[in-house]
Amino acid sequence: MSTEPKTAPKPQRRITTTQLAAMKTAGERITMVTAYDVLFARLADRAGVDAILVGDSLGMVVQGDENTLGVTVDDIIYHTRAVVRGAPRAHVVADMPFMSYQADAIEAIKNAGRLLKEGGAQSVKLEGGEELAPIVEKMVRAGIPVMGHVGLTPQSVHALGGFKVQGQDATNATRILRDAKALEAAGCFSIVLEGIPVELARVITRALTIPTIGIGAGVDCDGQVLVIYDLLGMYDERVPKFVKQYAQVGEAITTAVADFKQEVQAGTFPTEAHSYHAKEQLFRPREIVPAPQEIDDEDGIGGLYGVPV
Ligand code: KIV
Repeated sequence: MSTEPKTAPKPQRRITTTQLAAMKTAGERITMVTAYDVLFARLADRAGVDAILVGDSLGMVVQGDENTLGVTVDDIIYHTRAVVRGAPRAHVVADMPFMSYQADAIEAIKNAGRLLKEGGAQSVKLEGGEELAPIVEKMVRAGIPVMGHVGLTPQSVHALGGFKVQGQDATNATRILRDAKALEAAGCFSIVLEGIPVELARVITRALTIPTIGIGAGVDCDGQVLVIYDLLGMYDERVPKFVKQYAQVGEAITTAVADFKQEVQAGTFPTEAHSYHAKEQLFRPREIVPAPQEIDDEDGIGGLYGVPV
């Protein structure tokens, strides 16, 4: 008998907002990806990402819309539940959909509360700047950890006149810096900087004590986030300049499915290796309709696995 003491494996601890903040202090870069289902969440969690965002980008990459405006709170709850099941370790952030928080603080708190209670997320993310600070303050006071999102805010696609880089002139850059500072003052634990010049992202990152997570904002942010299908080379409707495809999974999937189709048509799949057999004779020979190629069989019996009449 083994004399080794029997210890139960330690339960995996989920990464907290405090740990994400400590990573900035320690100069450790934060990695975040989006995920929308259990399988991708599990794979990303195993890869060691610090945070997973259930982004409203799902409106485009999962639902096939041309922007994120149609996504609902129920959509995000549904996908967040799956992601939380798949990822026991990463911090899970649920995106607040368009018009689920802008109108007033009560609605924002109720909707964010649903994402935490029903979805199981540990925090929420919302888009916008200084104008949202009073709402964020109330959400934080209600015990909801909030991640901000400034710069290119996709929910404002119509107001911005498209998915365009923001803050490339001094006036807009100053406004975005002010937005980021206001969100920090309101209690955000982190801020996504999207689609802004490297120079502006650097200034914001140094001006804030909370971590910045960049997407199209250069290398000086405290962390980086990418949409998982972008980084895997699976979404080719729109490939922005800031996307690096670390694999060509889309191509690999199309090739695999085409190979499957070819083998089905050729009758070379399934082989014996992928088939089951009966443990005894299932039908009396005369109960079996012969397969077309067996009609001329001399014994007229047909195959055991023919169609019973
Ligand atoms: O919805 C999303 O995926 C996002 C990231 C791109 C930051 O907001």
